[in-house]
Amino acid sequence: MEALQRAAQALASARNVLAITGAGISAESGIPTFRGAGGLWEGFRAEELATPEAFGRDPELVWRWYRWRRDICSKAAPNPAHVALVELESRFEEFLLATQNVDGLHPRAGSRKLIEIHGNIDTARCTKCSAILPLDDASEIPGSQVPSCPRCTGRMRPHILWFGETYWPGVLDKAFAAASRANAVLVIGTSAQVWPPAQIALQAQKSGATLIDVNPQPTEISAAADVFLQGKAGDLVPALLHACDRVCGEGIRTS
Ligand code: OAD
Repeated sequence: MEALQRAAQALASARNVLAITGAGISAESGIPTFRGAGGLWEGFRAEELATPEAFGRDPELVWRWYRWRRDICSKAAPNPAHVALVELESRFEEFLLATQNVDGLHPRAGSRKLIEIHGNIDTARCTKCSAILPLDDASEIPGSQVPSCPRCTGRMRPHILWFGETYWPGVLDKAFAAASRANAVLVIGTSAQVWPPAQIALQAQKSGATLIDVNPQPTEISAAADVFLQGKAGDLVPALLHACDRVCGEGIRTS
């Protein structure tokens, strides 16, 4: 309770807030995380198929795997943590949600001040002309899992950042710029094993932001955090929103 109160006070006095989410925020929506127990996707680890090499070797398999994942994501619904983040978006002068998730649950919940830094499972990119399209607009080839580009007939791939690839231009700049201005950074449901997102959170803290981490399991980020809220995002993010509103109601907000 004491940690929740401290986190709420940090948020209530913040003008600029950066939130960073990982797979854990969608766990309660029924979408498997990447690492740890249950972190398998149809028997494959993400590292085995989410690579340009895997796509070069067997695009049919990679697409089959993504279509299977996409089906899980499309059947899942945003949970109270996603919804609470939509509420938080309007509470601050500046807010940015940088998600590592490709499941689309943040936009479906209604988040608008959002960057999906690893892409979105509903989009595809042409390997020939680089057009980025909703997957539903890509041309299906009968008998094949691999869609083709309706513009140039090139082979399409999932528009997702794979292991070994560099981030798309501007994506990290936007997140680091928000980190440099944030008064509070809220990290939710990430193991912090992927370095740029973890680095963005630590950079925000270095620039003066209060670092709040929400996770049932301690991570490197929780060890560095100013406040570690240990538990499930679906419980703690709405609780944090309500605690923040209570603090504001008591007149502690300075902005
Ligand atoms: P991970 O699977 O590495 O970590 C998920 C985290 O969520 C763990 O720390 C869990 O303890 C935590 N968690 C589990 N249930 C939770 C709950 N109910 N509430 C809050 N937290 C919970 O997923 P990410 O950190 O997102 O990259 O992984 C980062 C990136 O690695 C992914 O975006 C993906 C992956 O490879 C790419 O595909 C480029």
